[in-house]
Amino acid sequence: APSPIGGIGFSPVAANIAPMTDAITVPPGYAARVLVSWGDSLTGAPHWDPALPMTEAVQLHTYGAHTDGMHYFPFPSTGVGGVGNTRGLLVANHEYVDPGLVHATTTYGTDAMTPDRVDTQLAAHGISVVEVQDSNGAFQVRRPSAFNRRITGKTPCEVGGPAAGHVLLRTAADPAGTRVLGTLNNCANGHTPWGTYLTCEENFNGYFGAAADALAAQPLTDHERRYGMAAAGFGYRWHEADARFDLRANPNEQNRFGWVVEIDPWNPKSVPVKRTALGRFKHESAGVVVGADNKVAVYMGDDERNEYVYKFVSSKRFDPKNRAANRDILDHGTLYVARFEADGSGRWLPLVWGQNGLTPENGFANQGEVLIKCRQAADRLGATMMDRPEWVASHPATREVYLTLTNNNRRGTTPASSNGADGTTTAASARPPVDAANPRRDNRYGHIIRWRDTGGDVGALTFGWDIFAECGDSLNPQPHLQGNINGDDYGAPDGLWFDADGRLWIQTDQAGDAQGDWANIGGNVMMCADPATGETRRFLTSPRHCEVTGITTTPDGRTLFVGIQHPGEDWSGSFTANSTWPDSGINGPTTASAAGASKPRSSVVVVTKDDGGVIGT
Ligand code: FEO
Ligand code: CA
Ligand code: CA
Ligand code: CA
Repeated sequence: APSPIGGIGFSPVAANIAPMTDAITVPPGYAARVLVSWGDSLTGAPHWDPALPMTEAVQLHTYGAHTDGMHYFPFPSTGVGGVGNTRGLLVANHEYVDPGLVHATTTYGTDAMTPDRVDTQLAAHGISVVEVQDSNGAFQVRRPSAFNRRITGKTPCEVGGPAAGHVLLRTAADPAGTRVLGTLNNCANGHTPWGTYLTCEENFNGYFGAAADALAAQPLTDHERRYGMAAAGFGYRWHEADARFDLRANPNEQNRFGWVVEIDPWNPKSVPVKRTALGRFKHESAGVVVGADNKVAVYMGDDERNEYVYKFVSSKRFDPKNRAANRDILDHGTLYVARFEADGSGRWLPLVWGQNGLTPENGFANQGEVLIKCRQAADRLGATMMDRPEWVASHPATREVYLTLTNNNRRGTTPASSNGADGTTTAASARPPVDAANPRRDNRYGHIIRWRDTGGDVGALTFGWDIFAECGDSLNPQPHLQGNINGDDYGAPDGLWFDADGRLWIQTDQAGDAQGDWANIGGNVMMCADPATGETRRFLTSPRHCEVTGITTTPDGRTLFVGIQHPGEDWSGSFTANSTWPDSGINGPTTASAAGASKPRSSVVVVTKDDGGVIGT
């Protein structure tokens, strides 16, 4: 890979070690300022006030919870200095909620679950489309804006692709199996060259549950368990108040989640489409690469311990001159799953009905069932179990694809006598030995792998791969946990993104408390790496107990948007003991209408260079 144009020019910041500062820190010559936070108005209506209860009605016109993946869509530019660098649509995911933050008075887990609470939490999920504009040298949310929009856990979505209308997607509320209410647990993202946003449904299983007596009468199926369904889910208890999330009252509803969803942000009335051709699993990101022949590849990870990496290749070609002709490209093509061989080669194995045992006698009646039961189909093909595939990013010049493997404490360790701590019996409870692509036992710090499809052809069935970096703490006494980072140490890589100059940006998702394994590495960070030399510098450190996730830029590279998720997170409920960011004002004045007794809020920050230069130079 070529070195980035202009290289990495900043001086790294120090790790945020204990006692942590509750702030974002960026290098000298840079500034980070809060743009938008959970509960901030997207209309003309007042912002959320921390003293008032969050409700469905308030959340429907305000920025959602737990910001994650995002992309900046520039307004059409009209030449040099065009408007696209100062005005655009920022589209962002809202992955999940912490009920103890949403409901002011919740003693979580003991209060009765009510339909109002479910509706409020559903409204906090989904996506925000936010018009942003640089006015007087600082990006701000335009409010109101005809483009500003909330898509939530209840917004009607179409189903597209081979599984549309499948018998396994039909419910009493939707007998046709073509119209799903909402999108949930959207983690990372992608975007298409035809100007649409791709959002990825990850841990959807956590919202479903069932009563003990119903499960005694009809136990969880192998299919449900393969996707991590469990009696109590992740403890949200929605099924107690909304039968849609009751696995026994509506057993097919869970099949309607776990997809990549395509959204046209330029049309506020557009209906999001679940693209089933891309397969159903715990989607992390959707990295779109257009080939020389204008066929479209989408590289995707299934983020769970010992799950797989996938590639979709379209059968239609992208038409740069006819936007409407591209609207169903992601409905037609072939889905593959990756097998990494020990010699540095790899194969893309087709998930095609009727081939390689994906047949009725093995439980796959048609292509729709292959896609709905994508994990089971991939199991049959001998795909390689990976150390939790998170984001993919492709080099802007070479199309080389990089993938974060965030960590895996079930790699190469002694088999447990029972299932995983989450009670599931999926591949996630497997404990595979180390292999060439996942070379470390008890992989606490994760690694970054990269591959090159043969001949630079996105449709190739083979590839070559190597490991870009093994993360770790170089001061750790155990050699296998030290990593091999050329520069500043980091661990648990998750967000991954190339800028236009070929600098690789890496965001981390670990405990964020600078304790234990993270005492030397400190809180979560955003790193910048040179893909050619591996040189890596720490660019940004974050507030306490948060994750750094979500990154996008204006076309000129001079304004960088970065997501800060769940500052202060503590499921026992004492968030404010850990963090009061951003309403502490430490990274600039926030838009909250009320001062004082606030709560930490997931937020997007804008990073700029004081001299107006390109970020990273
Ligand atoms: Fe939601 Fe895999 O991170
Ligand atoms: Ca993630
Ligand atoms: Ca993660
Ligand atoms: Ca997260």
